[in-house]
Amino acid sequence: MKHFVSMKHLTAEELLQLVQLATDIQAQGVSGYREQLFAANLFFEPSTRTKMSFTVAERKLGLEVLDFAAEASSVTKGETVYDTAKTLQSIGASVLVIRHPEEHTAAMLTEKLDIPVINAGDGKGEHPTQCLLDLMTIYQEYGRFKDLKIVIAGDIRHSRVARSNAMALRNLGAQVFAAGKPEWMDESIGIPVLDMDEAVEQCDVMMLLRIQFERHETKREAAGYLENYGLTVEREKRMQRHAIIMHPAPVNRGIEIDDSLVEAPRSRIFRQMENGVAARMAVILTLLEGWGIKHGYNLDKRE
Ligand code: CP
Repeated sequence: MKHFVSMKHLTAEELLQLVQLATDIQAQGVSGYREQLFAANLFFEPSTRTKMSFTVAERKLGLEVLDFAAEASSVTKGETVYDTAKTLQSIGASVLVIRHPEEHTAAMLTEKLDIPVINAGDGKGEHPTQCLLDLMTIYQEYGRFKDLKIVIAGDIRHSRVARSNAMALRNLGAQVFAAGKPEWMDESIGIPVLDMDEAVEQCDVMMLLRIQFERHETKREAAGYLENYGLTVEREKRMQRHAIIMHPAPVNRGIEIDDSLVEAPRSRIFRQMENGVAARMAVILTLLEGWGIKHGYNLDKRE
């Protein structure tokens, strides 16, 4: 058989041979068969960093990546998120990564699937792997969290990063504050608000957020934002000598941060991205272990 294009090309005998072979493979595996693990990356919202670093993390751990593009999938025919995820589990995914515009989507799947689910961002809800790589970046800088003064500045109301980070950092003993345009503050996150000019002088970490225009009900309006609420060169000069700048990216250069500061010596923005791979490897490995799923990573390699 050279191709497999139409049933009209197959005899009954060929069909039965295929059915038997498939049944045998399912029951016994094939000679020299080494169990493969598959990771399904379901992104229903655009992503560069999270999707690509999950891909690198999965490949480094020896997993095969099932790449999924919602716009090219049966979602366009009306298939639900649950049916899509259940399909990926059914065809062999051992771990499922999902980004979705609706809050609680990943949580809903954890109640219905029998494989680990990783939230890669759910609407305005949470972005826990971004949070982990942020924690890693801060820890590399200071070696602790306790009593660090961390200011999360910007569009907090629409930010899943702010929600995850405020929770985790407070849990770790940091002092967490918000700063930015008053209408974008969010009392439900439960962190005190500082004026941006006060914040730059006091913080150990200035964690800027992107203005999430796509989640705004009103039209894109950024005029005067940098001068009034963003990190200008003048404000950066007033930061403490040791303080660092972070941003989950993508960055709106010249809106929440002056273009020249994105790669300033105190910026850790690209370090955060670098840390994203190891942080996601740690999450996947921990989940596979937790489910008792054998994986290809040699734990003995750890120092
Ligand atoms: N920080 C972050 O989540 O970036 P992406 O949207 O590019 O994944």
